[in-house]
Amino acid sequence: RSAVLKSTSELLRRSRRGYSSSATPERKVAILGAAGGIGQPLALLMKINPLVSSLSLFDIAGTPGVAADVSHINSPALVKGFMGDDQLGEALEGSDVVIIPAGVPRKPGMTRDDLFNINAGIVKGLCTAIAKHCPNALVNMISNPVNSTVPIAAEVFKKAGTYDEKKLFGVTTLDVVRAKTFYAGKAGLPVSEVNVPVVGGHAGITILPLFSQATPASNSLSQEDIVALTKRTQDGGTEVVEAKAGKGSATLSMAYAGAVFADACLKGLNGVPDVVECSYVQSTVTELPFFASKLQRGHFNSG
Ligand code: NAD
Ligand code: LMR
Repeated sequence: RSAVLKSTSELLRRSRRGYSSSATPERKVAILGAAGGIGQPLALLMKINPLVSSLSLFDIAGTPGVAADVSHINSPALVKGFMGDDQLGEALEGSDVVIIPAGVPRKPGMTRDDLFNINAGIVKGLCTAIAKHCPNALVNMISNPVNSTVPIAAEVFKKAGTYDEKKLFGVTTLDVVRAKTFYAGKAGLPVSEVNVPVVGGHAGITILPLFSQATPASNSLSQEDIVALTKRTQDGGTEVVEAKAGKGSATLSMAYAGAVFADACLKGLNGVPDVVECSYVQSTVTELPFFASKLQRGHFNSG
């Protein structure tokens, strides 16, 4: 009987993996703030990521609908929706990666710092629950101001005794996505081949795109072009906030960027070598305690 059970569970496992015989590990991803402007398209993108076997969608409201909708997509990840504080623990239990886009977005005229008072409390509550229910998860912090929400999360985890600096990431991938798009457009290069590291932080002049290290290099750009590209990358968030005219900030491009970063985390966990992404983390690169830079082995891989 146990042999039958064993082969049945193997069949189920394989069918969820699209009949692949490769040993892709089971990975659970939780999205906190999953019914929001970023959360919904991010839920869609994580549902179609073949590395995800279980997708947990948590919000204070609206997740049953999002989960029912996304769950009909014929990809392997099993989707569950969770709503309200009493379901947060179950949503988090066993998570390998937790993505946090929970919190209020900017309106025109606001800086990211204006979101601090509300979002600091939201992030503190969610990180307290992460420390309790999935202390080993990689945490991808999207909620703004990232320059502050990441240190807040670090303090919460320290207090709980679960802090591992290699597992807490401020998601700055949208700055990289923008820098690549703007650089490729200006230099006339194929955008899919372009890479631009972005270091520093995730607010205004703390966003430092390193066009001098962009690949492929371009010799068609003037110093003025570089200054303009730098400014556009730094102001990319504000460009979207103003264009949305009171209806929030970047959601679709952020969901894409969040999905790229979460995919890098999953690949790292699965032992894929040479995963490289920029992210805002505890750092010794400068005298600042947190700084965005290129991360590779040690962050995305255990080696
Ligand atoms: P949104 O208002 O559309 O969605 C936020 C969601 O968070 C809502 O569904 C809300 O119900 C939920 N929420 C609020 N409190 C919660 C809690 N305690 N637990 C779980 N969910 C909770 O906002 P959005 O456009 O999705 O933006 C979310 C955040 O992401 C904002 O802070 C925004 O500034 C930030 N953001 C960051 C980047 C980046 O590059 N890191 C890019 C864009 C936006
Ligand atoms: C962005 O860069 O788009 C986000 O940080 C949202 C914002 O407020 O600009």
